[in-house]
Amino acid sequence: MYAQMIKSEATQDDPEKLAAFQARIDAGEKIEPKDWMPEGYRKTLIRQIGQHAHSEIVGQLPEGNWITRAPTLERKAILLAKVQDEAGHGLYLYCAAETLGVSRDEITEMLLDGRMKYSSIFNYPTLNWADIGAVGWLVDGAAIMNQVPLQRTSFGPYSRAMIRICKEESFHQRQGYDAIRKMAEGTPEQKKMAQDALNRLWYPSLMMFGPSDKDSVHSAQSMKWKIKMNTNDELRQKFVDQTVPQAEYLGLTVPDENLKWNEERGHYDYTDPDWSEFFDVIQGNGPCNVDRLADRNKAWDDGAWVRDGLLAHAKKKAARQHAAE
Ligand code: ACO
Repeated sequence: MYAQMIKSEATQDDPEKLAAFQARIDAGEKIEPKDWMPEGYRKTLIRQIGQHAHSEIVGQLPEGNWITRAPTLERKAILLAKVQDEAGHGLYLYCAAETLGVSRDEITEMLLDGRMKYSSIFNYPTLNWADIGAVGWLVDGAAIMNQVPLQRTSFGPYSRAMIRICKEESFHQRQGYDAIRKMAEGTPEQKKMAQDALNRLWYPSLMMFGPSDKDSVHSAQSMKWKIKMNTNDELRQKFVDQTVPQAEYLGLTVPDENLKWNEERGHYDYTDPDWSEFFDVIQGNGPCNVDRLADRNKAWDDGAWVRDGLLAHAKKKAARQHAAE
């Protein structure tokens, strides 16, 4: 429904303005919030940036779940810092979305009542400590693969937010790899846990890049507008090519019998995820969808008194200023 709304409004733009806008994009100029932009461009950005912001915030849940159970004080401090970073990423992105004329409360409400999405990956559980290593290695690894090109995206506030986010995400990926390496090099039981984490999280990580190109609804227009810089399949392939040698180094086996280096293509051949599972998860039927949304709704409701207090304070301050003028 949200996508349909974007399409119908996009057709209302003046063709001359649209052509001039496209010329700016093609010339590599950044579009800033006060510049003219097609309604479809604005709405697509709100959808993508909002979905990304929600992913950062919801993504805190599976990891936050392990802060109290981290195996050492050092791992606990690292995980705590990482989870806090994700909250910061959410804030940068909500701020970027706000420059497009939508308030943070509005898009938060759209998340809470299910009108907006967040990344499919966070609807899978983190069952043991090795999963936390695998999340950093695979999930943050996939996120960076997608986000590094987005530093060059055409909308200024989004591209600047991505520059900051990517710096931190690369630390997240490394800490995840370090944590899973420790498990893979540990006792047979620890190595088994690392392999189990890879088995469960491999295909959900591949799904993060979105449906295959033939089923991607938005890619063509988003790439024309440089809201997206690559297709879903291009990024997925890059991720597979980067990650398989890392798994080999760890002595772990990627759970794909068809995985093999294709000399002619210069890439690994691999098995696509089960796309029916992906569509089921993004429609709300993944293993953790209900819990994730319930947790976000509870956090929002529990925080109402803070928002009310801040608003009352701001109103009082404004009234005092008004009286003094
Ligand atoms: N999880 C949930 N929904 C998804 C996912 C996913 N992994 N991939 C695609 N979808 C949805 C799209 O939102 C779209 O649905 P909608 O029209 O209702 O919004 C539908 O599936 C069709 O997909 P595409 O047409 O390919 O969608 P799009 O062009 O938006 O591409 C992508 C999806 C690649 C995720 C893009 O939005 C993107 O690059 N987003 C920015 C990065 C991001 O959000 N990362 C989150 C990762 S987690 C993290 O960073 C913590």
